Order: sequence, then C-alpha cells, then structure tokens
Amino acid sequence: MNKLKGENLKKVYSRNVVAIENVDIEIEKREIVVIFGPSGSGKTTLLNLLGLLDKPTEGNVILDDMVLNNIDEKKAGEIRNRKFGFIFQFFYLIPELTVVENIILPLWIKEKRAKLKQFYKNAEELLKSFDLIKKKDFYPTQLSGGENQRVAICRSLICEQEIIFADEPTGSIDKFSSEIFFRTIKKLNEEKGTTFVIATHNENFLQISSKVVYLKEGKIEKRS
Ligand SMILES: Nc1ncnc2c1ncn2[C@@H]1O[C@H](COP(=O)(O)OP(=O)(O)O)[C@@H](O)[C@H]1O
Ligand SMILES: [Mg+2]
Repeated sequence: MNKLKGENLKKVYSRNVVAIENVDIEIEKREIVVIFGPSGSGKTTLLNLLGLLDKPTEGNVILDDMVLNNIDEKKAGEIRNRKFGFIFQFFYLIPELTVVENIILPLWIKEKRAKLKQFYKNAEELLKSFDLIKKKDFYPTQLSGGENQRVAICRSLICEQEIIFADEPTGSIDKFSSEIFFRTIKKLNEEKGTTFVIATHNENFLQISSKVVYLKEGKIEKRS
C-alpha cells in the first residue's frame, strides 16, 4: 500500500448517535499516525472504518486508488489478511491456546504451509523482546492484563503486515512495557517500513508520531 485515505467520513450508530463526522485523514506508507483524543471522541470508530472492520454511513475509505466502501465482507477479509494487523483494546486471546500458540496462530492461518519450527522461532524472538519468554507455555488466564496485552502485541506483529492498527495499545500495560512497545514500533517502522495507525490518549505516542489527528466529539479539532 502507498496510501490509505478516509474522505469526509461519518459514522452514525443506532439511536442517531453520531460518532464521527467530516473526518478527512491520509495515511502514507511508513507513517506513524496517531489518532488522539479523550474517551468517546470517536477514535475506535475511525480506526474500525480505516481497518475495514466497519462501514461508514457517509464518505469513502480509499486504499491506493480503490474505493473500498462497497466491497463485501469476503473481499474486506482478504485485504485485512494480506495487509493489515490489529492490536485491539481487548485482547481476544484464545484461552485454550498457550502464549506461544496464540502468537503463531495468525501465521498458521496465513501461510498455507505449516513451517512450525520457523513460526516458533519468530514467536520466541518477539517474546524475548517483550520480556515474556519465561511465560511462553502459560495460558492467558495465568497472566496479568498487562502481560496478555503484550502477548496480543506480539501476535499482531508476527505476520509483519504492512499496516498495523492499534487501539489504546498501552491501555493496560505499565511504563516498562510501553517503552518496549515504543522501541518496537520505531524499529519496525525504520527497518521494515511498517505503517502504524494508533488510537490513544497516551501523550507519549506523540513523540514517535509522524502525524497527529486530534479528535474532539467526533470531529477533527486540529492536526500536527
Ligand atoms: N457500537 C456502538 N453503538 C452505538 N454507539 C456507539 C457504538 N460505538 C461507539 N458508540 C458511540 O460513539 C461515540 C464514539 O465512540 P468511540 O469511537 O468508541 O470513541 P473512543 O474510542 O474515542 O472512546 C461515543 O459516543 C460512543 O458512545
Ligand atoms: Mg476507543
């Protein structure tokens, strides 16, 4: 991808709740774009529209030169699988799988051939960098909230997708893990050209961002 664009986006939920309105946003390859704003300002809504997890009530989402509004769920799924990675606010780890198994799951699904040895090696590298290697055979219920979030971060990074969407990724991790996360983002961005779109109210992200869109009550208040 070279450019992902939201044009005049509006999302109205049931009971006429207008979550976002008049939102224009451009994400270019290799950028770290931060969507910044207080709770309820529309960050998750905007991220979900850009990540093709939801459809706008008005406006367009455009990837390179493709307008994606009218694509069906199958096509949206294909684009997400090929290009997008997600770090959700809630982790959605699978309780029956261990930490390392949760992390390799997306690779397992994506790669048709199971190169298990390589998958484990990649997962273990990530676990090391997030200081979790000792817990690789634990189950999610045996970990703290912060540890689970770090596992979810590892899982989202393993496929090395072109663009990673993160929703409050440091919401439940401590300062130490946040620092590791910032360094990892920077490293992936510089070495692999990974693009990031991060919804957050954590001001520390502003330092590593290439562009910030400030949301207030569903509208863009300012940009920097
Ligand atoms: N699924 C939904 N149904 C109805 N209203 C929603 C839904 N999701 C979000 N909203 C409303 O949209 C607004 C923006 O929410 P959200 O995008 O989650 O903001 P943020 O992520 O910045 O906290 C809020 O007023 C919220 O109540
Ligand atoms: Mg949110």
